Amino acid sequence: MLTVEHLTKRFGGLTAVDDVSFTVEEGDFLGIIGPNGAGKTTLFHLITGFLPTDAGEVWFKGKAITGKKAYQISRLGMTRTFQITKPFGQLDVMENVVVAALQQSPALREARERAEEVLRFVGLGAYLHHSVTHLPIGLKKKLELAKALATRPSLLFLDEVMGGLSPDEVRDLMDVLRKVQETGVTLVMIEHVLQAITELTQTLLVLHHGALLAHGATVDVIRDPEVVDAYLGEVEPDAVH
Ligand SMILES: Nc1ncnc2c1ncn2[C@@H]1O[C@H](COP(=O)(O)OP(=O)(O)O)[C@@H](O)[C@H]1O
Ligand SMILES: [Mg+2]
Repeated sequence: MLTVEHLTKRFGGLTAVDDVSFTVEEGDFLGIIGPNGAGKTTLFHLITGFLPTDAGEVWFKGKAITGKKAYQISRLGMTRTFQITKPFGQLDVMENVVVAALQQSPALREARERAEEVLRFVGLGAYLHHSVTHLPIGLKKKLELAKALATRPSLLFLDEVMGGLSPDEVRDLMDVLRKVQETGVTLVMIEHVLQAITELTQTLLVLHHGALLAHGATVDVIRDPEVVDAYLGEVEPDAVH
């Protein structure tokens, strides 16, 4: 489904993403972990067309997409959520998702139907006409997910969707992500909440100083002493449940 080869991004003297190569198989749920500043978000920006690469190639479903713009890549079926949610404050919950749905279906009626469908799917059915500015963080994250799903992705990138959520909200969102996977969407998730990584992902990739430190089955990678040293040792104890 996705092939990333030798992807590299420099910011001045800093190599934020350093010669990263990996593949994602259809139906996989891939986790990405690594300390703050490891280059995780930048890697997403490069793959999904939000930043130009300095070197390397990306293929999606066999097609070279390096250098394509984010909206072109989104139309091919690859989309992402943002670590910091920025909904349109003047629009209500439903309208925010309609804007996203219009990317795939320019017909307003269809876009509205799709928006309502995904909002019910993520559990925001009771908030269709609520103001987005007053939504609590847990629901804002669901709105972010609904916007991404409205574009009908076959490959979805999630950037710390669990960040700032309570344990109940984490469990709730994990259930939603399981349902997303069941609908046939391939998922790639950057996440610091280890419970979500261990329970949801089959494959795990660890970034450290922009480079790939480990990549393999989650159960194996999570026990790798090098990974524990570089990352897991730094995690607050209460996050490791
Ligand atoms: N637009 C930018 N300009 C300069 N430096 C950046 C930019 N974006 C990210 N960086 C730097 O690149 C490194 C990786 O950042 P990022 O990808 O956001 O890490 P992560 O998501 O793993 O926390 C950090 O050192 C960050 O400060
Ligand atoms: Mg980040």
